[in-house]
Amino acid sequence: MEQYIIKGGNPLVGEVEIGGAKNAALAILAAAIMTDETVCLDNLPDVNDINVLLEAISCIGAQVERVDRHTAKINGSTIEDVSVDYEYIKKIRASYYLLGALLGKYKKAEVPLPGGCNIGSRPIDQHLKGFRALGAKVDIRHGAIIAQAENLHGAHIFLDMVSVGATINIMMAASMAEGRTIIENAAKEPHVVDVANFLNSMGANIKGAGTDVVRIRGVESLHKSTYSIVPDMIEAGTFMCAAAATKGDIMVKNVIPKHLEAITAKLEEIGCEVEEFDDAVRVVASKRLTRTHVKTLPYPGYPTDMQPQIGVTLALAEGTSIVTESIFENRFKYVDELSRMGANIKVEGNTAIIDGVGGLTGARISSPDLRAGAALVIAGLAAEGITIVDDIVYIQRGYEDFEGKLSNLGAEMEKVTSEKEIQKFKLRVG
Ligand code: EPZ
Repeated sequence: MEQYIIKGGNPLVGEVEIGGAKNAALAILAAAIMTDETVCLDNLPDVNDINVLLEAISCIGAQVERVDRHTAKINGSTIEDVSVDYEYIKKIRASYYLLGALLGKYKKAEVPLPGGCNIGSRPIDQHLKGFRALGAKVDIRHGAIIAQAENLHGAHIFLDMVSVGATINIMMAASMAEGRTIIENAAKEPHVVDVANFLNSMGANIKGAGTDVVRIRGVESLHKSTYSIVPDMIEAGTFMCAAAATKGDIMVKNVIPKHLEAITAKLEEIGCEVEEFDDAVRVVASKRLTRTHVKTLPYPGYPTDMQPQIGVTLALAEGTSIVTESIFENRFKYVDELSRMGANIKVEGNTAIIDGVGGLTGARISSPDLRAGAALVIAGLAAEGITIVDDIVYIQRGYEDFEGKLSNLGAEMEKVTSEKEIQKFKLRVG
């Protein structure tokens, strides 16, 4: 089992290149099968979730060619099976995007019902409500969602809550429905916009993505496209927090600064200097940071996917901070691990009360989920002494070469698989 070993205490300094957005890429890969022509996708992050979805797509019969580390060609003309195997949905919930894609294209899809996951219960009722509104009959049988329709038709759909997944899934199916669909209370996240842009590049007719009303006029077929995935705002935000927590100075390159505004605002509020360039942001933390309040909200609010990273940063800031998680109920699992490193945090319901401490000390900790895992690595980098992070497989689901990018910024860390490698690292760093 792979682990990270970290010797903390060095400010991270230098430049880092951000890759394509995992959460945009997952939906776009699913949408790519909606045409019988070849789609070429670039700026795909080379992370486990993407690789699993590529396998799922090839398993239903699509042709998948990995052109290079960040580029894949997909041709959906050879799909012979509209049912997705449980193995894939078990590994990545986002394979549920194949529901919207297959239903739109073939008017039939069968995808196992995803269960809960580490960060919360995660129902998908809004996705199903949308498909039903478009005219599909949706049944749940033997643990799978079976959606089918003679014909899909446009509908006026009000989402009960802002959901990224439901907005995207409905947008995909509605792109190939007859007539006009309006999604109200739609999610506005940059990856929703990216998926809409991609579908439009294949000939779909989607307007309003990025606002809370998305209008879709269905088309009969979609065509080939070459598309580059938007930069990953969460990967970028993670490095921004790494600069803040380690009192570093990082130029985060290949980003869209507008997407990072909520994160930038919080970091400035607590005393970081953040400089924006056309496609980069530089975060400098030259003094002790101070307390603040954070509440996670749908975009353009502060992202839930950045909650653990700011939590770790605030654990080291002066004063008492309050972090409220309003999207997923189970996103404070990193707190117990962080407490073992000396943080002073109390969780009550969906709120964490963080009394900032002067420093953390390294410990053996384990990564509870993707973002919490990344946040704990940041904690290890800021802490005095050695930290060993277990279960880094979660981190690898969403961060490409995390250890490599951090090492380039001066982090003393390694990916190890044995006690012998741990000892070697300890001897080397002294
Ligand atoms: C996406 O999940 C992301 N995943 C998550 O990223 C992210 O945390 C989340 O959006 C919020 O930004 C992908 O894009 C693959 P939602 P999604 O539907 O689409 C409730 C990461 O770390 N809800 O916007 O599943 C739901 O329980 C991850 O990269 C319903 O009740 O999130 C939650 O409270 C993890 N019924 C809220 O809405 C539904 O049908 C928002 O969820 C759908 C959602």
